[in-house]
Amino acid sequence: MKALLVGAGGMGRVWGKTLGDHADVELAAWVDIRPDAAALAVEELKLTNVFTGTDMHKAIASVQPDFVVDVTPPEIHREVTLAALAAGLPVLGEKPLSDTLEHAREMVTASEKAGQLYMVSQNRRFDPRIAAFKGLLSNIGKPEILNADFYIGAHFEGFRKEMPSPLLLDMSIHTFDAARYISGADAVSVYCEEFNPTWSWWKHDACATALFEMTGGLRYTYRGSWCSDGRHTSWESEWRAVGPLGSATWDGDQQIIADIVDAPGEGLFVGTKPLHVTPDSTDFASGVAGSLREFLRALKTNTTPMCECHDNFKSLAMVFAAIESAATGRRVPVAQN
Ligand SMILES: NC(=O)c1ccc[n+]([C@@H]2O[C@H](COP(=O)([O-])OP(=O)(O)OC[C@H]3O[C@@H](n4cnc5c(N)ncnc54)[C@H](O)[C@@H]3O)[C@@H](O)[C@H]2O)c1
Repeated sequence: MKALLVGAGGMGRVWGKTLGDHADVELAAWVDIRPDAAALAVEELKLTNVFTGTDMHKAIASVQPDFVVDVTPPEIHREVTLAALAAGLPVLGEKPLSDTLEHAREMVTASEKAGQLYMVSQNRRFDPRIAAFKGLLSNIGKPEILNADFYIGAHFEGFRKEMPSPLLLDMSIHTFDAARYISGADAVSVYCEEFNPTWSWWKHDACATALFEMTGGLRYTYRGSWCSDGRHTSWESEWRAVGPLGSATWDGDQQIIADIVDAPGEGLFVGTKPLHVTPDSTDFASGVAGSLREFLRALKTNTTPMCECHDNFKSLAMVFAAIESAATGRRVPVAQN
């Protein structure tokens, strides 16, 4: 399978290496609008026989790729995805799906019209630890409480510094998508507040607190900050789920534990027994390698992968509903399509 990679920035290099390392993929072309950026990245990664340039149309004509990987900034995803789909090529795009819900709808429709797969790489789904936490929840009965805490002091350079709602738009998509994956529920409505503490180095609000009503009566709360130095949580967030038969927590790292109700107990509390799970990484492709494996499997078997654009739209819709709620001060519905 010949790949055309678009975007040679920080994450583009991660993709360049992942595509270059894959036994069944040839990284045939790499383009970036910055002249020489793709060629420089090819040199840095010691890749060979890669067409480089600034124009994806020329690259398509030259190498006739089998699929496109889009690693441009969010506001460029629409342009790249529509061009690839119009050329009859399936697309694996970086998150977030797009920079607005209107653009996202246009891209989903373009995928339908072209009859080509458009999948969004939510790489944090492809992690044996989140899979283990999801599996553990079957022991606590149907959860109706799910919490995620995300506190990281991120001192970025680049497009994030200027973007509005940097935490919600650029990062919370991972956590919101993880909440859908973990619970199997979709968001119905949200109330959210966005804010910037006095010490924040971000131009726009880098903190948010959101309460989602999810399908099946689940309440999902998100507390996030990108301007909290020290005592960082994991990038995967810290999680707690509560069901009728107990509670489960994941520290976002290796601690994945539940307390399962198993006896009447004494005094205030019922008796519980702990249940620890160890993530199983046997034959597991993690992160973007996991996204790539899922995408290639879907192309090969003509099946719908996780994070296909119709499904991923529901995670992006959580982001935009949270932003709208924060702007209006009201609970707002979360779009499903
Ligand atoms: N999944 C993750 O963990 C993760 C981490 C970082 C970034 N990302 C995502 O990856 C994407 C890129 O982020 P980044 O950090 O690499 O950004 P970046 O700014 O470092 O790189 C983006 C590159 O795209 C190029 N570009 C812009 N417009 C283009 C166009 N029309 N055609 C070709 N190239 C174009 C830019 O010149 C730049 O080199 C974003 O969507 C971001 O949200 C995901």
